[in-house]
Amino acid sequence: MASFDVIYIGAGPGGYVSAIRAAQLGLSVAVVEGRETLGGTCLNIGCIPSKALLHATHLLHETHENFEKMGLMGAAPKVDWAKMLGYKTDVVGQNTKGIEFLFKKNKITWLKGWGSIPEAGKVKVGNDTHETKNIVVATGSEASSLPGVAVDEVTVVTSTGALTLPKIPKSMVVIGAGVIGLEMGSVYARLGTQVTVVEYLDAITPGMDAEVAKTFQRILTKQGLKFILGAAVQGVTTGKKGASVAYKLRKDNSDATLEAEVVLVATGRKPYTAGLGLEGLGVEMLPRGQIKVDAHYQTNIKGLYAIGDAIPGPMLAHKAEDEGVAVAEILAGKYGHVNYGVIPGVIYTTPEVANVGMTEEQLKEAGVAYKVGKFPFMGNARAKAVFQGDGFVKILADQATDRILGAHIIGPMAGDLIHEICVAMEFGASAQDLAMTCHAHPTYSEAVREAALACGDGAIHA
Ligand code: NAI
Repeated sequence: MASFDVIYIGAGPGGYVSAIRAAQLGLSVAVVEGRETLGGTCLNIGCIPSKALLHATHLLHETHENFEKMGLMGAAPKVDWAKMLGYKTDVVGQNTKGIEFLFKKNKITWLKGWGSIPEAGKVKVGNDTHETKNIVVATGSEASSLPGVAVDEVTVVTSTGALTLPKIPKSMVVIGAGVIGLEMGSVYARLGTQVTVVEYLDAITPGMDAEVAKTFQRILTKQGLKFILGAAVQGVTTGKKGASVAYKLRKDNSDATLEAEVVLVATGRKPYTAGLGLEGLGVEMLPRGQIKVDAHYQTNIKGLYAIGDAIPGPMLAHKAEDEGVAVAEILAGKYGHVNYGVIPGVIYTTPEVANVGMTEEQLKEAGVAYKVGKFPFMGNARAKAVFQGDGFVKILADQATDRILGAHIIGPMAGDLIHEICVAMEFGASAQDLAMTCHAHPTYSEAVREAALACGDGAIHA
């Protein structure tokens, strides 16, 4: 039995990042992780492997779509699926080893196994019980189930199974037009799979700026994805040849079915807290299964903290990381803080979609007077040079003060471009501050500046 200042349960982006910061701040740290490798869902079966597949299939799509236009002639490459999956596994392996290295460097103990909390100040892993001043639950989330849909990770898969399909399916029904559905749907559509996305609501990517969502759907449709919106999935049955998805159209209550070789269920995730012993401890939970914490991430039990997908807020790796850093600082006697108003969201399709802050819909609802500065990538020379003129940057600024309240981008490298605006928002900048900043030419970033200019006297190239 060993004794620590803090034991983390879960080595995902929340837990492992927090552990490193806590160790850097002088605390003795252990992390409980039952998976064979560190990094959690994001690194092993989520963000990172999906980005590898998105990259490979994006290049494949480029060969079909744009190579000839640039004078690059010849047949498009054949896909060796096993090799592509191998590349994805390598990418994951390099990163999980990287975290192991960082654990050693920072003298963090990895307690291998699944942890539970028999009482405050104690963590049990296998037959060993470890004493600790503090415990941080960073156990993340798991795919939510859908009534009438049994996941077998072969024919009916979650994102986990979608990353390791034995072969490229001819057809796929994706249930849910959220982030996972559209990223993985894009991967398979580019590989030649006929992808149909069935979504309960009347628009894709709920919560996103409506104008961006509309443009996004149009572009994805052009790329070959089909959408059935306003359709509630009732159930899935499987047979030898694949699956049949039954859905009800909400507008007229009519029933229909769709056949596909594979069905991807991407209808959201829920906190993963089973087996920790939280109930026995009397930890207060919220109705949607999240752990209730105070402003310092502490539960109603002293010395027991929780961060990431297990508590409320967007289920994003970087939100968990920031909470991890904050809680480590709090445990070390400092003042950790997360600015929830400036957490970017990114969808890594082509084009990428990124957002931060308020949407127009939210501003209207809040009764805030705002102005819109918009600039199309069609007016950006660099974007046009790489066939990515579709999309735009939209900056929302306070009508009276010009302070930036939100930004929504669909276009090349949107996931990187958004951070200039995040920094500006952290500094309480106005759109004019962005507009007066010299931007290198020719870059995609100029579109951000032009959108900022459009909040004032007008964009130059529009
Ligand atoms: P999501 O919450 O983004 O989307 C789920 C979609 O399924 C919604 O549009 C919802 O209306 C729809 N839906 C629910 N029930 C349905 C039904 N019965 N029939 C038809 N449609 C139905 O969830 P998703 O895509 O599974 O992602 C889970 C979490 O993982 C999200 O919080 C997301 O932010 C995160 N994530 C983030 C990524 C990123 O940042 N790039 C990548 C992948 C996941």
